[in-house]
Amino acid sequence: MNERDLAEFCHSLSGLTEENRRILAQFVLPHLLTVLADRQGACQCATREEYLQRCTADPAEQRKLYMACFNSTSEFFRDRWTFSLLERTYLPPLLARGGFRAWCAGCAAGQEALSMAILVEELAPVLAGASATIFATDIGPDQHALAMAGRYPRSQFRHMTLERMKRWFLPDGEALQAVEELRSKPLYSTHDLLDNQAFCPPESIFGSFDIISCMNVLLYYNHTTQVRLLQNFHRTLASDGLLVVAPAEIGIVNQSGLFANLCDGSIFNVVPGETCPK
Ligand SMILES: C[S@@+](CC[C@H](N)C(=O)[O-])C[C@H]1O[C@@H](n2cnc3c(N)ncnc32)[C@H](O)[C@@H]1O
Repeated sequence: MNERDLAEFCHSLSGLTEENRRILAQFVLPHLLTVLADRQGACQCATREEYLQRCTADPAEQRKLYMACFNSTSEFFRDRWTFSLLERTYLPPLLARGGFRAWCAGCAAGQEALSMAILVEELAPVLAGASATIFATDIGPDQHALAMAGRYPRSQFRHMTLERMKRWFLPDGEALQAVEELRSKPLYSTHDLLDNQAFCPPESIFGSFDIISCMNVLLYYNHTTQVRLLQNFHRTLASDGLLVVAPAEIGIVNQSGLFANLCDGSIFNVVPGETCPK
């Protein structure tokens, strides 16, 4: 299957909305092939062709295929090195000037946004109570409710210190729940990063973010879409704003020419003067 076959297959899925089909066609081919193989196994089809035929004829399966494309795996302080750089070097000056605005784009059930909120809350008292707003968005229909509940399996805490875990979470059966004070910090909403009408969450009104963290999202999309997403981030960051991605996405950002790598890691700043098509 090549890119063209994929586009044709996506186009044939009449059980999906046009919007869903448009999004599906923007995933990178290896990701879609993995998801197709998983669904083929789940449907006990002997070959990919058999699965494609079945899927084309079955709107319920089309919906399952679409949903399976959104991997929502996440954990707290997922890339420890990046969060430690944010805590020690990059967040304090941004917080100190007041009115800090962050956007966690593709936040799953809130693990990344709460990791950021913990750093902000811990740094704010030493910075004279600097005010901060964290917008946190995801496309997944279930992610918003999960984030609002703030309840997470213990396996997602392996990068968090015990001290932080005790300070910010309470045991809830087999899981841990974020204390209300923390849970209420990110402003969660459902938002599609590929929405042509909204470059950033509408409730943030004008963007101008000090930080956009978008970790483990770019890598699921094709090159054209990756560039478009990075152009949107470039446009909605403040002129000295930072973009944070996952280590596996550093190459994607470097190639775009829109951001400069700050630390040989996954933190970038906007290249001044670089403009994006409107
Ligand atoms: C692998 S998770 C990463 C979660 C978190 N950022 C992290 O690194 O732990 C990817 C998330 O991006 C979300 N996502 C993928 N495509 C999206 C889109 N077009 N708009 C908004 N969210 C998207 C998925 O729903 C999923 O929750």
